[in-house]
Amino acid sequence: MGVHRTVYAGEIGEALAGREVTVAGWVHRRRDHGGLIFIDLRDRSGIVQVVVTPERAEAFAAAERLRLEYVVRVRGTVRLRPPGMANPDLSTGTVEVEAAEIHVYAESRTPPFLPQESAEGVDELVRLRYRYIDLRRPELQAHFRMRDHVIRAMRDFFAAEGFWEVETPALARSTPEGARDFLVPSRLQPGHFYALPQSPQIFKQLLMVAGFDRYYQIVKAFRDEDLRADRQPEFTQLDVEMSFMSRDEILELMERMIRTVFRTTLGTDPGPMPRMTYAEAMRLYGSDKPDLRAGPPLVDLTAASRELGWSLLREAPAVSGVRIPDWHPSRRELDAWVERARALGLGGLVWILREGDGWRSSAGKWLGEDGMATLGTVAGLRPGDGLLVAAGPEAEVLAAAGSLRVEAAQALGRLEEGWRFLWVTDFPMFEWSQEEQRLTAMHHPFTMPKEADWERLESDPLACRAEAYDVVLNGVELASGSLRIYDPGLQRRIFAILGLGDQEIEEKFGFLVRAFQYGAPPHGGIAFGLDRLVMLMVGARTIREVIAFPKTASGTDPLMEAPAPVDPRQLRELGLTLIRDRGRA
Ligand code: AMO
Repeated sequence: MGVHRTVYAGEIGEALAGREVTVAGWVHRRRDHGGLIFIDLRDRSGIVQVVVTPERAEAFAAAERLRLEYVVRVRGTVRLRPPGMANPDLSTGTVEVEAAEIHVYAESRTPPFLPQESAEGVDELVRLRYRYIDLRRPELQAHFRMRDHVIRAMRDFFAAEGFWEVETPALARSTPEGARDFLVPSRLQPGHFYALPQSPQIFKQLLMVAGFDRYYQIVKAFRDEDLRADRQPEFTQLDVEMSFMSRDEILELMERMIRTVFRTTLGTDPGPMPRMTYAEAMRLYGSDKPDLRAGPPLVDLTAASRELGWSLLREAPAVSGVRIPDWHPSRRELDAWVERARALGLGGLVWILREGDGWRSSAGKWLGEDGMATLGTVAGLRPGDGLLVAAGPEAEVLAAAGSLRVEAAQALGRLEEGWRFLWVTDFPMFEWSQEEQRLTAMHHPFTMPKEADWERLESDPLACRAEAYDVVLNGVELASGSLRIYDPGLQRRIFAILGLGDQEIEEKFGFLVRAFQYGAPPHGGIAFGLDRLVMLMVGARTIREVIAFPKTASGTDPLMEAPAPVDPRQLRELGLTLIRDRGRA
């Protein structure tokens, strides 16, 4: 029996009635009912009601002094609550602990906000500055319990499948994942910098060259990029690499892993994951991370538009429709969708409604009955259905229509329930960077091009596809991976297409290229965003809700007040001087 505690608060039930227990935790609520004092005592397992009667004079005097968030120990007897006094909202709602002794471990100043209050009205900066109070909220604690279960389920799975968990360095050198690096100056090598890894990509490939065969790691990755709801500068990956496995074997194993994690943590099997090529995903959903919960795919209206009398649609390079079943919008809503389409970069938006036997459209004047009927019929509109039509250059039209499809389903409260997983495969090998005016690797330069495209790598690089795959869950990119190049000759060709000179190759990837000259096995892997996965599993809106000490949108930690200036001596040791007026330049 513990000195401080014999049982967790949330575990006290009717089976313990009549027994003496000791519970320890925080004062969640305190009510003074004339002669009796009630305390809700909270620990991470839940809440139990403590009742203190004046007959226990010392305990009563202690209870009178208690304030919210004091840390206490209560020894007492479990008893059933009197008839009619049960609280169905609490797992311990049919019992209470009648206090014999109360010990105060620590008092608390009045907290800036209370764990029992909704977090809604509380400023996020304040929540983060007092993160240890925010983390007391049962809702947040449930997120971390889930995070722990997910990680454990993953480790169990990988251990059973013969994977080794191997740690790779955090002080590394810049790897080409596309974001900015966080740099760490070296004291022993003045003027030289480590980079915090954007992922363990190169190390895990080296482990395959080393013959480790099956590796995984739950590991921090660091990227200095603009933050969003599902992005943090430091985040956690489930990173995996395997040798001598075909693409399909890798996909099947990872699918089994995810389904096992869902079964053991949520008790549900999301079922087999459908697969779709990148080209199909873009054509059908205007996105490489389609949200399958958001209703029917886009309708390609380009061919049908060629028949129309209205030149704006007839001559548009691409025309795409979002079908919205059973939709009866007000004029105001329709105007708002047109506005939204403009914000998404379209010149405008045409809507068509099938009302009974007739048609109504923002472009009725130009389309005429026939035109509306042509488009409406191709789109499969039934009476009561609506259609949003986007026209313009193909890439813009698909992207905007894809966003409208998801936003409409969200706005109408029509996102289906459930876990809609999807593999997106066969991504393009290269993309054109407007900013840099050159080809870049869409995934990373070690990604294997599809064998069928090897012969046109130089002649038509933008048409080449890669052995790259993503896992998408409910419209969120959860994981990315690929088969890797293991032939030094093919790797050199890819580097050349990316415009990397010999010196640059040597500087950036010399160690990998060299390693591949000593016998590299065929290999491939994947990395899952662990924070994103847990965020979706617990239904949180941002990954900040599943990271214990996250950064704000401007990359700061209000609790530790990081980043922070450092002692000039530290800078001198590192051989660094600050350019003072940089911010003002
Ligand atoms: P990628 O860059 O796609 O692939 O990253 C893998 C997954 O990590 C998650 N993720 C993030 N989560 C939170 N905050 C961020 N800033 C952030 N950036 C990425 C996403 C993403 O799918 N080395 C390759 C993997 C491989 O090829 O094996 C890689 O890192 O869920």
